[in-house]
Amino acid sequence: MVQIEIDPAVVEERIMTLGAIGACHDTGVCRAALTPEWIDAQALVEQWCKQIGLTTRMDAVANLWGRLEGTEGGMVIASGSHIDSQLPGGRYDGALGIIAAITAVEALKRQFGAPKRPLEIVSFCEEEGSRFNGARFWGSRGISGAIAEGDAEAISSYDGTTLAEAMRDIGLDPARFADAVRHDIEAFIELHIEQGPVLELEDLPVGVVNIINGSKGYNVRVVGETNHAGARPMDTRRDALVGVAEMVLAINQNALTMGRPAVSTVGRLNVDPNLGPAVPGKVDFTIDCRHNDAAKLEELSSAHEQAITRIAEKRDLEISWTSRPPLAPCPCDPEIVRVLEESAKSQNIPSLTMPSGALHDTQRISEVARVAMVFVRSKDGRSHTPEEFTSIEDAVAGIRVLAGALHALAY
Ligand code: HGY
Ligand code: MN
Ligand code: MN
Repeated sequence: MVQIEIDPAVVEERIMTLGAIGACHDTGVCRAALTPEWIDAQALVEQWCKQIGLTTRMDAVANLWGRLEGTEGGMVIASGSHIDSQLPGGRYDGALGIIAAITAVEALKRQFGAPKRPLEIVSFCEEEGSRFNGARFWGSRGISGAIAEGDAEAISSYDGTTLAEAMRDIGLDPARFADAVRHDIEAFIELHIEQGPVLELEDLPVGVVNIINGSKGYNVRVVGETNHAGARPMDTRRDALVGVAEMVLAINQNALTMGRPAVSTVGRLNVDPNLGPAVPGKVDFTIDCRHNDAAKLEELSSAHEQAITRIAEKRDLEISWTSRPPLAPCPCDPEIVRVLEESAKSQNIPSLTMPSGALHDTQRISEVARVAMVFVRSKDGRSHTPEEFTSIEDAVAGIRVLAGALHALAY
């Protein structure tokens, strides 16, 4: 294994430059996929790729690729992440993974010249699904062949634009989504902030991910009856929000009862008519349910479905839901995990091999390549907030681990 040299000042400059595009809430970013700020950020990533001597292209589903040819060709070794964010999100979620991939390839090229195998960097489109409801992992699904005819037309943003329209606006033909499929990637490694508290609690800068949570998501609608808040007696009401409040507590308790790493979250909730002097007649809310064991994920999501059905019946409320197909837990490739552990050890970077609570494009790419991830510590274990932070020292440590592994795989 090799010793990789990374300049912290370059890493910091890239974080702050990318973080300035779509900046909001002081230290956060609002950078929804395919918006002008997202397009500017992809253009900056492309400029960085060209500056370090990569050839660049945008694929059929708006992923940006940078490629460094190998002397012996063959299957590609790739790394990357996403630049779209939650609204608002932090300046590290996804973005640090792109900066890490570019900085790692730049260091490898500088220290060791051309690789034997091609090295590619990818900036995925729409990882978060923060603009287009139901489009989470759009770009990585395009690469793994998990997009179907008509998906882009059927997916709409929260402001009414379809994904197909947004793709056409940047010169892409949504009908050609299948052109993005790749079968030539041997291995893919994503560096990402941990987004949780484990590395901080262990006082470690870096993690090596060996399994990624699976998830099941729901959009639930509960209907009662809208009434006057003053004239309607309490004992005759069908208050949808009171029912949903009981459902939220039941969902929370189901996950607590199952114990870690089970998690379940009601993150989005809309009340109708949402007027002070009116009894809520309709409530729409989301359930985000996760576990890294497929059977436990099924058990947890079933417990939620039984609980919300029981509470609706008890309170004479109508209930219906739609759910996304479950995303299976993703065990990482043991050999890639070992290479990452070895890269950390040989560079005297302490690391912990651990599961990922967050979902990542990596688990989509696992359908067409061998994968693993590098985590770097999140301050206060927080993410999906403008307060998200990772130190430059930890970012550099993670990039050195990533680069050491890419060297082992591509040189
Ligand atoms: O939800 C997730 O885990 C990811 O951050 N989008
Ligand atoms: Mn995220
Ligand atoms: Mn992310």
